[in-house]
Amino acid sequence: MELILLGPPGAGKGTQSKFLESRYGVAQISTGDMLRAEVKAGSPIGLEAKSIMDAGGLVSDELIIRMIGERISRPDCAKGFILDGFPRTVPQAEALDRLLHETAVDLDAVIELKVDEAVLVERISGRFTCAKCGAGYHDTFKQPKQAGVCDVCGGTEFIRRPDDKAETVHARLEAYNAQTAPILPYYKAKGRLYSVDGMAEMDEVQAQIEAVLRQIG
Ligand code: AP5
Ligand code: ZN
Repeated sequence: MELILLGPPGAGKGTQSKFLESRYGVAQISTGDMLRAEVKAGSPIGLEAKSIMDAGGLVSDELIIRMIGERISRPDCAKGFILDGFPRTVPQAEALDRLLHETAVDLDAVIELKVDEAVLVERISGRFTCAKCGAGYHDTFKQPKQAGVCDVCGGTEFIRRPDDKAETVHARLEAYNAQTAPILPYYKAKGRLYSVDGMAEMDEVQAQIEAVLRQIG
């Protein structure tokens, strides 16, 4: 299974791709998570990416394409992968086509999560994750079952992303509209684009994605 989950910041790409990873045993590849790990490690990639991410812009295509080329060639991708947050520009989509062509892999579907802008801002501003295992939560929509304790690993420390501040969220939405939305027609023309209602409850979005997967066989 080779899938792309596409949608604006806060649309639920991370939430749904983590579910698909555990359900189907395919690798979830989030370029945002990979970049945050580089920033944390203080690597040259992290140093290059940090100020751009903090401002809500997009990191260079060249850096991202290099990172993805290396990532999808790893053994855990042999059973397939879900791309979360990549591609984000037309040059990235074209580079992915070349990478897949080289490895004779076919993209099954590009699933777009459609969510209104006001809802995105609400989702992002309430988001937090477990510092230990990365499980995602929300102040309103998904609290841990026991207050202050991660459902998955029992961790008690939670973090909020520096780019989830209101002013940065607007810059991220602008970057999505200007640079990422143009890849929707690119995949539509290839007959690979499926849209689901990302405004629905998490379980319902999950069910809609599974319906697309059944449809494409
Ligand atoms: P990245 O980490 O990819 O962030 P993003 O695209 O802005 O997406 P988010 O992680 O904010 O949202 P999501 O869609 O995953 O939503 P989530 O599931 O968490 O990128 C960060 C930065 O890295 C970029 O700004 C850029 O600088 C750089 N970057 C990354 N990739 C790049 C690339 N390819 N090229 C260039 N630069 C790149 O859900 C959000 C919240 O809502 C959660 O709290 C969740 O619990 C809740 N929620 C989810 N679904 C629902 C639902 N159905 N109902 C109610 N609540 C829900
Ligand atoms: Zn945890």
